[in-house]
Amino acid sequence: MKLWGGRFTKATDKSVEEFNASIQFDCRMYAEDICGSIAHATMLAKQGIISQEDKDAIVKGLKHIYTQIEAGNFEFSVELEDIHMNVEKRLTDAIGEAGKRLHTGRSRNDQVALDTHMYVRKEIASVAKLIVQLQESIVKAAEKYGDVIMPGYTHLQRAQPVLFSHHMMAYFSMLSRDFIHLQYAWTMADMMPLGAGALAGTTYPLDQEFVAQTLHFGKLYDNSMDAVSDRDYIIAFLEFAAVLMMHLSRLSEEFILWSSSEFKFIELDDSHCTGSSIMPQKKNPDICELVRGKTGRFYGHLMGVLTMMKGIPMAYDKDMQEDKEGVFDAIDNLKFALTIYSAMIDKMSVHKDRMREVLEKDFSNATDMADYLAKKGLPFREAHAVVGKAVHYCIEQGKVLQQLSLEELQGMSPLFAEDIHHYLDIETCVNQRNTYNGTAPSSVQRQCRTGHDTVSKEQDQIQQWHDTVAAVYDLVK
Ligand code: ARG
Repeated sequence: MKLWGGRFTKATDKSVEEFNASIQFDCRMYAEDICGSIAHATMLAKQGIISQEDKDAIVKGLKHIYTQIEAGNFEFSVELEDIHMNVEKRLTDAIGEAGKRLHTGRSRNDQVALDTHMYVRKEIASVAKLIVQLQESIVKAAEKYGDVIMPGYTHLQRAQPVLFSHHMMAYFSMLSRDFIHLQYAWTMADMMPLGAGALAGTTYPLDQEFVAQTLHFGKLYDNSMDAVSDRDYIIAFLEFAAVLMMHLSRLSEEFILWSSSEFKFIELDDSHCTGSSIMPQKKNPDICELVRGKTGRFYGHLMGVLTMMKGIPMAYDKDMQEDKEGVFDAIDNLKFALTIYSAMIDKMSVHKDRMREVLEKDFSNATDMADYLAKKGLPFREAHAVVGKAVHYCIEQGKVLQQLSLEELQGMSPLFAEDIHHYLDIETCVNQRNTYNGTAPSSVQRQCRTGHDTVSKEQDQIQQWHDTVAAVYDLVK
C-alpha cells in the first residue's frame, strides 16, 4: 500500500504512477534527504516529540540506507514515487514503528524544498570551483601570450589592434560577474524551509532554528506558504547558468572562427577536437559547437521554470516537481563545459605570426592616424575624413597606410611629419591605449593582477561554502 493509501479504495493506474513519479531523477538527492531527515529526527527527540530510542533507531537506519545507496545496493521504486518515500518506506521496513514516526510535523512539501535547497547549495560550491579554475586558465593564457597582438573586431570587421591577452581577459571579467551571480543564487538557496509543513506550519513544538543550525542554513523563511512554494533560488541558479553559458557560447563562437583555415589564429589541441567519418583532413571543434548549442537548453530550463511558476496558486502544487530536471541537467552540462574549457585554454596554441600578418595587411591603425592629426590640432571629424580618403587611396593603390610615403601623406594633410610611421606601428597603436581598462600592456597587466586578487577572494568564498556543505554531509558519517 502507498504511504498515503488510507483514503483510497483503488490502486493507482500504472501509467499514472509512472507519470507522477519523480524518483527517476530526484534519486540524486538521497544524501540531502537523509541528512535532512537526521536533522529533523534529532530535533523531534530534542523537543520530546519522539523518544530518544526512536531517534537513535531512525538515525542508525538512515545511515544504513545511505551506505546502501552509496554502494549501489538500493533499488529505487517507481511505486514509491519519489526519493522521500523511497527512503521512508525502506526505513520503516528496516526499523518498524520508529520509522513511522519520522514524518511527524513534516510534509513532503517542506521536505522536498529542504532537499532541493541543500542540493543546490552543494552544487553551487562545486560549480564555483570550476569557474575559478577556468578564470585561472584565462589569466595564465593572458600572461603566457602577453606580447601577442591580434586584430580587434567590431561587426566582425577588423577594427583596432588589441592584445590577445586583453581579448581573453574580457572573458575573465564575464566570469567574475558569473561568480557574483552565483553568490546571489547561494543567498537565495541558503534558507531553511522545514517546519512549514504542508503549507501552514505545524501543531508540534518544532525548533526550526535548531534544524537550520544543524544543516548550516543562514536563514529561516518568514512565511510557511512562501517556504514550500518558493522556487526563486532555482530560478536564480538557472539565470546564473544561462548567463554563464551565454558567455561560454560567445567564447565558443570565437574559438570556432579562430580555428578555421580562414582565420588560423589558434589551434585547439587534438585531444579537444574530433575528426570526420568521411573527410580525412578534418579537425572539428565539436566541443565548442556543443557548448554553443547546449546554451539553448539552458535558456529553455530557465524559461521552463519561470513559466511553470507563473500561474500556480499558493502553496505547493505538483507543477513544482518540474523544477528539478532542468537544474540537474544544467549542473551536469555546466560542469563538463567549465572543466573542458579550462583544459582547452591551457592546451591551445596561439598563432602570433598569423595574427601579425593579418594586421600588417589591413587598416586597423586608421583610428590612430586620425588621432595623430587631431592631436596636432585638426578637429577629429576632419581628421576622420582625411584618413577615410587615405584609406580609399590605399585600396585603389593596393597599399596599406603604413606604406604611404611622407610625400603622399603630406599631400593629404600638411600636418603629417616624420613621426607618423612610428604612430602607425601596431605596437604603438596598442601601447597608446593605456586608459584604465584599455588594451595597452600596462593596463592588461593591471587586469591580470586584479584578476589574481579576484580569484583569491573567490577562493575564500568557495572555502566557506565547502566548509558549510561538508559540515552538513558529516551528519551521515
Ligand atoms: N516529488 C515531489 C516534488 O518533487 C515531492 C513533493 C510532493 N508533495 C506532494 N504533496 N505531492 O515536488
